[in-house]
Amino acid sequence: MPVRLLTLGLPADTLKEAVLTGLSGRPKRIPPKYFYDGEGSRLFEAICAQPEYYLTRVETALLQAETQNIARRIGPVACMVEPGAGCCAKAQLLLGRLEVASYWPVDISGDALAEAASRLASEYPALDVTAVQLDFTVADGFASLLPHLPASGRRLVYYPGSSIGNAGPAEVVELLKAFRILAGKDGGLLIGFDLKKDAARLHAAYNDAAGVTAAFNRNLLVRLNRELGADFRPEKFAHHAFYNAEAGRIEMHLLSMERQRVTVAGVPVMFEAGESLHTENSYKYLPVEFDALAAQAGFSREAGWQDGEGLFAVHYYA
Ligand code: AVI
Repeated sequence: MPVRLLTLGLPADTLKEAVLTGLSGRPKRIPPKYFYDGEGSRLFEAICAQPEYYLTRVETALLQAETQNIARRIGPVACMVEPGAGCCAKAQLLLGRLEVASYWPVDISGDALAEAASRLASEYPALDVTAVQLDFTVADGFASLLPHLPASGRRLVYYPGSSIGNAGPAEVVELLKAFRILAGKDGGLLIGFDLKKDAARLHAAYNDAAGVTAAFNRNLLVRLNRELGADFRPEKFAHHAFYNAEAGRIEMHLLSMERQRVTVAGVPVMFEAGESLHTENSYKYLPVEFDALAAQAGFSREAGWQDGEGLFAVHYYA
């Protein structure tokens, strides 16, 4: 079946506005969604292949090992919506087993998504595939998608990859509420998240020896130089990632190695020596903590799976 491409409500916030707002705050910050230009996406793929970054490997193995149980738990669905589907690799883990009539991968980058969706559609000729280009991180991001989804049958929202960890405490419940609306009353959510664990293990995952995560972090500045005419010297910012146990999150920062002045979209920005630009949080949860967040959005846990070491969890909520 040919793939349809739906382009909906494109980014309401522009890079320039978001970056200038973030740089005028204290501490300075930039939303992590801006990591993912072409090079950022490539570097993220490379991070996933680093020995220290267990998340992707462990989740993939868990999904592979449990697909049959997962599919049995979920039952037949009319559609599966995957926010942030990227190259649709995680969908492939489920599609062979899950009884699903249509697949709706959603991503901000339309070209890459359409290509990945076409590849997947040729592997599953009976599957109806609609690639949706949409920035669901903006308020009411899914509102424009809802009227396009099949009116009858159960819906599954599939959100693997622990991207939910990159949402802060306020955003996470909002996002889960949006998933609840998307799934509908009788639908469900299959979601992967990273578990709380030994700080050294977490620290290593975000400070790989090959320096790929550091390059990913600094690439944000390269992107701002190219797209906003900024004059950051990325080599003058140090990658700093650590586990903040109190907040239950990995924090990623870029620390200015000296006092320096940078111009971004024509606006001067001062950095003091050692000053931080906070680029990402990656929250880690206990299963019960995540259940409590999901409950605030009207979800209750039907099933949950973990790897043998208790590093990562996949939960099914209805
Ligand atoms: C996409 N997200 C789940 C990754 C994470 O682990 O929070 C992004 C990442 N940042 C640094 N390494 C990986």
